[in-house]
Amino acid sequence: MENANKTCTNTATPDELTGMKAALHNPLDGNRAARHKHDQDVFHTLLHYHDQIRREVAETADGISTITTSDNPEVVRLLHDHVPAMHRRLHENFGLRYWDPAFPEIFAQRQKVHMDVTLIPNGVLVEETGTDANVVKLIQAHGMIVSLFVKKGFEQAQQQSPLPDDYQRIT
Ligand code: HEM
Repeated sequence: MENANKTCTNTATPDELTGMKAALHNPLDGNRAARHKHDQDVFHTLLHYHDQIRREVAETADGISTITTSDNPEVVRLLHDHVPAMHRRLHENFGLRYWDPAFPEIFAQRQKVHMDVTLIPNGVLVEETGTDANVVKLIQAHGMIVSLFVKKGFEQAQQQSPLPDDYQRIT
């Protein structure tokens, strides 16, 4: 894991600034800055180990069905941490990656997104669905964004994520 930490920069990244902003906006929950730091360490390490992660996404009529696995138990542990943590953040509207429109969008649409997470011994199964056709497009775009993170790691995470041209933004 040491190498993964070395990839982090010394100056505040947009996500770190977001974490600070989130903590400031929620003075009653001083724990949020620490949670954000933890979540960020986890997804940075997942990005570092992206080539040890396998992922399959099936698009369904109302969303996606995904399976994300690894043979490396440490990566499985990180997946078991990351996915429920992101599910919880969506529920709480504890956003992140504000500079990348696909992320503010999924948080803004959270009440129309249903996510079922199942932890399995080598990874996670996720069903993400919506009843609104526009939100289904967003859910499917997010499925593809996670797949791009798995395929390209940090190279992808530094870029803005693709959203379909016909998706109607609400942020
Ligand atoms: C290789 C790196 C990563 C892996 C393997 C990964 C894995 C996952 C998985 C399995 C899900 C559940 C939804 C699905 O299966 O499509 C998910 C959701 C999520 N992840 Fe990650 N993730 C990674 C990187 C990131 C990064 C870099 C961020 C943010 C900076 C992030 C933020 C989120 C958020 C907000 C959700 C919940 C909303 C959504 O479905 O997009 N993930 N991630």
